[in-house]
Amino acid sequence: MQFHKYDVVIVGAGGAGMRAAIESGQRARTAVLTKLYPTRSHTGAAQGGMCAALANVEEDNWEWHTFDTIKGGDYLVDQDAAEIMAKEAIDAVLDLEKMGLPFNRTPEGKIDQRRFGGHTRDHGKAAVRRACYAADRTGHMILQTLYQNCVKYGTEFFNEFYVLDLVTTPDEDGNPVASGVVAYELATGELHVFQAKSIVFATGGAGKIFKTTSNAHTLTGDGLGIIFRKGLPLEDMEFFQFHPTGLAGLGILISEAVRGEGGILRNASGERFMERYAPTIKDLAPRDIVARSMVQEVLQGRGCGPNKDYVVLDVTHIPEETLNAKLPDIMEFSRTYLGVDPVKEPVPVFPTCHYVMGGIPTNIHGEALRDNENVIPGLYAAGEVACVSVHGSNRLGTNSLLDINVFGRRAGIAAAEYALAHEHVELPADPTKLVEEQLAGLLSEHGDERVADIRKEMQQTMDSHASVYRTEDTLKQALTDVQALKERYQRITVSDKGKRYNTDLLEAVELGFLLELAEVLVVGALARKESRGGHAREDYPTRDDTNFMRHTMAYKQGAGLSSDIRLDYKPVTFTRYEPMERKY
Ligand code: FUM
Repeated sequence: MQFHKYDVVIVGAGGAGMRAAIESGQRARTAVLTKLYPTRSHTGAAQGGMCAALANVEEDNWEWHTFDTIKGGDYLVDQDAAEIMAKEAIDAVLDLEKMGLPFNRTPEGKIDQRRFGGHTRDHGKAAVRRACYAADRTGHMILQTLYQNCVKYGTEFFNEFYVLDLVTTPDEDGNPVASGVVAYELATGELHVFQAKSIVFATGGAGKIFKTTSNAHTLTGDGLGIIFRKGLPLEDMEFFQFHPTGLAGLGILISEAVRGEGGILRNASGERFMERYAPTIKDLAPRDIVARSMVQEVLQGRGCGPNKDYVVLDVTHIPEETLNAKLPDIMEFSRTYLGVDPVKEPVPVFPTCHYVMGGIPTNIHGEALRDNENVIPGLYAAGEVACVSVHGSNRLGTNSLLDINVFGRRAGIAAAEYALAHEHVELPADPTKLVEEQLAGLLSEHGDERVADIRKEMQQTMDSHASVYRTEDTLKQALTDVQALKERYQRITVSDKGKRYNTDLLEAVELGFLLELAEVLVVGALARKESRGGHAREDYPTRDDTNFMRHTMAYKQGAGLSSDIRLDYKPVTFTRYEPMERKY
């Protein structure tokens, strides 16, 4: 076991982690631990844009952006956090510009802006051009820019270090204080303990719970799982976003920017069906509404293809030069993976799991909470792993790249300032004990179960029973299936017993996190007997503000995989926006 000591440790090198590192590294001795090489992080897969009310191409302001974010999130958004995000968006974009990000430009040389779902002028009157973009590679450009700036500032990266545990030390009242992390070095199989005064979790989402997903193989909810296993809460985990335009049958992301540039969704008879569901902004309604509408078209027999199980995204009316200049990657994806040339024919699409709105509860400084009120001293979270909550029950497109920059920056500053004002907390006597037992258990099993089989069955049941539409029956089925898979997980075999790049072992650990999070999702979804944002219950089809205008807080009770989940609730923070019926 190797030992390291830093002021601040950041776990994860996607956009949120690196934005935090740029701030923290200039103030305090900071290390970034990442399961992947930084520029392979999933931020790089974000395509269409990062929004800010720059008003470069038409009238806009941060208050309209705040309103859209709150309404888009079906009023489960904490409004103080949304105001901060929309206000700070402008500087967040300008900071990236100064760091060297090559945004698309207007003919006058300003940062160009495009339309995106749910972003409107004057409280819903029409779609507004608010998304700043770099073709359809905005996340890729953000990741590269942040990485280059981390290199410029001399950030210390520990690449391919997989953090498996958060170490906490009890204070005098027995409450947890963050004191370090335990990481597994992939190249050697060695364990490392990092003692730190502040720890920032920026480990991303958990889309691999589902089979059909735009998420990379690495989005396995590691940070969420670690926190949950410590008995700390996860907030609003029943709210997963299904992005309307995944390539049909594959789930690969086709950016909403396609519709921002004028793409139209059509059913089997060529009808622009979104005119019926969202008469004002049509194809640019928020994602929950578009995804539900697409599924309705299929359920009502208006789907396309031999099995009538998808709709199509039509860009054949857009000039080829515009498509090639502004959407080069999605042109390529469609041709490569479906053999469909978007210039000549519409692209088959269907909703794909894209994003988790819930996560580690934090306040506006990125401080993680141990309950509805109290922070865990020294622990911070930012980006998709966190729930601040700016996305409520449904995130607007481009608010994610914004979130990672605004709250990554805030968490980095807060973590460094905390570290400068505090001493290191003593580590417990045996900080690696849990991880050693976990890995030894997985390696010593000689059961008859395979990781790949259990993962496949989990993803299938979640796709079938807990996706865009849910009912009591489907959710109960998912719960039964996931609990049975958790039992079988105890009998898995990890064939590779070696130390170097043991990805077999890694996948077994990841599956353990995914199974627990799948259960948290389903338990929260069963209890939420209403439809709101990304959570659509066919048996409770309307939003119920009287009983469910509240955040879900899920806690693990007891240790081990067969423990229970306790649900608690937290009020939504309101500033000035009363919940209204959501019309678009
Ligand atoms: O559609 C997209 O380009 C995805 C953007 C986002 O999730 O914010």
